[in-house]
Amino acid sequence: MHHKFLLTKKKHKFAVWFWPKANKKGMKETIDPSKIPAHIAVIMDGNGRWAKKRGAARLFGHRNAIEAVRDTTEGCAELGVKRLTLYAFSTENWNRPKLEVDGLMSLLISTIKKEIPTLVKNNIRLQPIGDITHLPVGAQKNLALGIEQTKDNTGMILSLALNYGGRWEISHAVKDLIDDIKENKAEVDNIDINFINQYIDKHTAPDVELMIRTSGEHRISNFLLWQAAYAELHFTETLWPDFRKKHLYEAILDFQNRERRLGKTSEQLIQK
Ligand code: IPE
Ligand code: IPE
Ligand code: MG
Repeated sequence: MHHKFLLTKKKHKFAVWFWPKANKKGMKETIDPSKIPAHIAVIMDGNGRWAKKRGAARLFGHRNAIEAVRDTTEGCAELGVKRLTLYAFSTENWNRPKLEVDGLMSLLISTIKKEIPTLVKNNIRLQPIGDITHLPVGAQKNLALGIEQTKDNTGMILSLALNYGGRWEISHAVKDLIDDIKENKAEVDNIDINFINQYIDKHTAPDVELMIRTSGEHRISNFLLWQAAYAELHFTETLWPDFRKKHLYEAILDFQNRERRLGKTSEQLIQK
């Protein structure tokens, strides 16, 4: 009996050493919990190529992206990230074939509804950004449901960028500001960065500290232009449907190894 127990134990040790999951755990432990980026933004790219590699239609890639969204959301919440913004549909994505746009919208409708209980369970608050008034009614309805049912949650904010564009957001803010000036609710002399900040969609604050883009593309594609002014950028070749916590940890470790100088010199940072 005793002997048998020893054997199982040994086998277990061996498994831990070789299993990638154990590596993943190791990587998580090297993350400095006092330097977790408060706001992480992700440009989830590469679904189409992921499907193409498998000889499947683009929508197959989008469907397989949901697991990546789940794992990343869970990973961020576990680490104490305050806000995670996911770029799900850009103002430019309407230019895709109708079949793909329709497919993406129905996926959005069904996924939001299905995921609400998990968000509630994990104390996550849902907060979309972008012009959601132009989304299909079903999507708007389920989003409203998700916002309502998670509004009292005190944990991480999951911000879904839907029909979102940085230039749209800035134009929108400029228009609101001019309207207020016309109605004597604002003064031209008061316009400064903080003032403009108030007009940029309030839900998108605070600034992005870490921006991740998957699939080897090195561009911002009109995402959070104002908020990413000082973001650290992390690019990975991994296609979005393959992205898991392990890749998130890699990105955070990369972030923690950078020196956030914010305009100062290295020497000034050491002196502090
Ligand atoms: C990102 O994957 C998802 C959305 C933009 C909605 P893509 O669909 O852009 O995938 P690729 O870039 O064609 O591989
Ligand atoms: C950016 O991905 C938008 C989203 C991830 C929703 P795209 O694949 O649409 O970006 P571009 O057009 O290649 O820059
Ligand atoms: Mg793409």
